[in-house]
Amino acid sequence: MVNNIIWHESTVSKVDRQRLNEHKSAVLWFTGLSGSGKSTLANMVDAKLYARGVRSYVLDGDNIRHGLNKGLGFSEADRKENIRRIGEVAKLFVDSGQIVLTAFISPFLDDRLTVRHFFHNGEFFEVYVKCPLAECEKRDPKGLYKKARNGEIPNFTGISSPYEEPINPELVIETDQLTIEEAADEIIMFLEKKKLIKR
Ligand code: ADX
Repeated sequence: MVNNIIWHESTVSKVDRQRLNEHKSAVLWFTGLSGSGKSTLANMVDAKLYARGVRSYVLDGDNIRHGLNKGLGFSEADRKENIRRIGEVAKLFVDSGQIVLTAFISPFLDDRLTVRHFFHNGEFFEVYVKCPLAECEKRDPKGLYKKARNGEIPNFTGISSPYEEPINPELVIETDQLTIEEAADEIIMFLEKKKLIKR
């Protein structure tokens, strides 16, 4: 019990919702440098799931920071709070019977581990979207690396703020080695193998 607030069990359970949807619910937690391809990949997987009639949704760092997490910056404390809130939102999506794809740099091992513990076994899958910093910097889709190098953006991940690589992620996708299509197919096959969705 938190401050006289008592949990109210929902009438329709997660399992009921999964049965209705005819697939399991889970979170695919994409982590990686800015420009590594997290959002592009998450959206491609989302589109493929949609085409199969799977209920899925993308939570994306840049977008969430315009709304729910407006006001949070890029200090260690703010990133921690950013990730904690997204973890909680992802948990709601999983409870609602959906497959949620999160695309956040989530640079700290500790924060990702904390979020992993929000979920039961078989519900949380860390997807390391791996791409060398030099390649992300070459892509620089938003021109932010250039600004960071010029000292215009403090605490920029990979430049002036660390990125802690996943130690034991469920999946590693090397976006400088695969096309986006190949990478998305690999993730779909993973979901099938884990029996989260039907073949
Ligand atoms: S996280 O570190 O808290 O997980 P999040 O994924 O929400 O980051 O947001 C990252 C996005 O914010 C980047 O893709 C980039 O477009 C933008 N951004 C702006 N400032 C920074 C910064 N200092 N470090 C990293 N990304 C930044």
